[in-house]
Amino acid sequence: MAVVIDEVSRTFSEYLLLPNLTRKENVPANVRLQTPLVSHPLGEPASICLNIPMASAVMQTVSDDRMAVAVARCGGISFIFGSQPIDRQAEMVRRVKKFKAGFVVSDSNLRPDATLRDAVALAGRTGHTTMAVTEDGRPDGPLLGIITSRDYRVHRQDPASRVDTFMTPFDRLVVGHDGISLNAANDLIWEHGLSCLPIIDGGRRLRHLVFRKDYDAHRENPDELIDEEKRLVTGAGISSHDYRDRVPPLVDAGASVLCIDSSDGFNEWQAECLDFVRGRYGERVKIGAGNVVEPDGFEYLADAGADFVKVGIGGGSICITREQKGIGRGQATAVLDVAAARDRYAERTGRYVPVCSDGGIVFDYHIVLALAMGADFVMMGRYFARFDESPGRQIRLGTNVVKEYWGEGTNRAQNWARYDAVGGQLAFEEGVDGYVPYAGSLGSNLQQTLARIRATMCNCGAIDIPELRRKARLTVVSATSLREGGMHDVLQKERELVTEL
Ligand code: IMP
Repeated sequence: MAVVIDEVSRTFSEYLLLPNLTRKENVPANVRLQTPLVSHPLGEPASICLNIPMASAVMQTVSDDRMAVAVARCGGISFIFGSQPIDRQAEMVRRVKKFKAGFVVSDSNLRPDATLRDAVALAGRTGHTTMAVTEDGRPDGPLLGIITSRDYRVHRQDPASRVDTFMTPFDRLVVGHDGISLNAANDLIWEHGLSCLPIIDGGRRLRHLVFRKDYDAHRENPDELIDEEKRLVTGAGISSHDYRDRVPPLVDAGASVLCIDSSDGFNEWQAECLDFVRGRYGERVKIGAGNVVEPDGFEYLADAGADFVKVGIGGGSICITREQKGIGRGQATAVLDVAAARDRYAERTGRYVPVCSDGGIVFDYHIVLALAMGADFVMMGRYFARFDESPGRQIRLGTNVVKEYWGEGTNRAQNWARYDAVGGQLAFEEGVDGYVPYAGSLGSNLQQTLARIRATMCNCGAIDIPELRRKARLTVVSATSLREGGMHDVLQKERELVTEL
């Protein structure tokens, strides 16, 4: 006979937090959001902690190198999607590790024999008026000069004139040398009244450009997630299929945290994959596994050596797994159950294995609920897909501006490994291909989200995540009180409809 669990499986929106005593020290500025990313002996700190409890999802329309840089700069982590050729994924990892705040690789480059017409066309394409002239026209070629919009007048000059006749030539340029700090580069910019400082290596090859206008945006960020060599930390998604080929190039490129990405991780292939990575790299490379929704799955993966375990089946915004296969569990119940198993496991073995709540975050307060229920951090797809930094195309849909967001279980993603599809073909889709409303830059949106999280934690009388977990009191809401929680019984003002009487 099948086992029937009588407890209803619930999701985040079915809960609210009750306030606790707010002490005077419970102000948002005092709230600490650090949280362990990887397993550690109970009572000792983890070797990698996130500064904000967030990870961006292992998805094509969410986590590429640009997103990974933006998320790590804010203190979280991205897992660069694995449903792409190995060399492309490794290249993305490499770009994140090479990223130096404020130092950009020149994207507008010309050869000396290019013409003014070429320069104008290039500026039109890239939107950048500062262009490097290098011997071979490559971004890392020997630097010959720089052109800015001040160096030419389109309507007064012959469009066929060569750029080396009007560029600022190398011997009149102020340059910085490879290894210079952002502060020192900025001092040179101010001293010489420059708008842009080229950085070259010993062989006069162009390495980076530092722009005056970028300085404020790139000042040291205290929350940045960096490794011991001060490079940004990035994760990478892998599957339990081609890990023998995929993992070594990813590790060589600098990925220090991997994540086996699967819709159902309670299986022997994940154990083999964990074994391979642990055997080959020991503690040097960390690896998370999942997804699971109940204690047996958690224990299996923790015993197999997972450094964190992801929880969630069927709750993702683009996910139709529950409809297609009838597998899954309400996200709140899954997190509560697995987090309790994690605590029992830590008591029994002395090893704490963080739990990540993956998918189904709709409102910012859901993040606090997930943390209160025991998640160490959350993984989000839809949330991050809305921002400038995500790889999805931004398009206009009627009067709305949206970004593309599709599930890894769609035919479009061709991520057959995530769903263990035999023969590299999905027999049926487990995800949808859709859009999310465009929301602007990650930085400003994330600050708002963090402000809400901190404010909620203050109401709960919690200064950090462990205290939130200890003190949180949750109440189940009825369908009617859900309605009470939103705007009700008033007409919302719509500016264009209001006419003065
Ligand atoms: P979201 O934050 O609610 O959009 O959920 C994102 C999560 O959904 C991801 O981290 C994955 O765990 C999961 N996911 C991604 N693609 C699919 C899919 O096609 N089907 C089912 N789940 C998916």
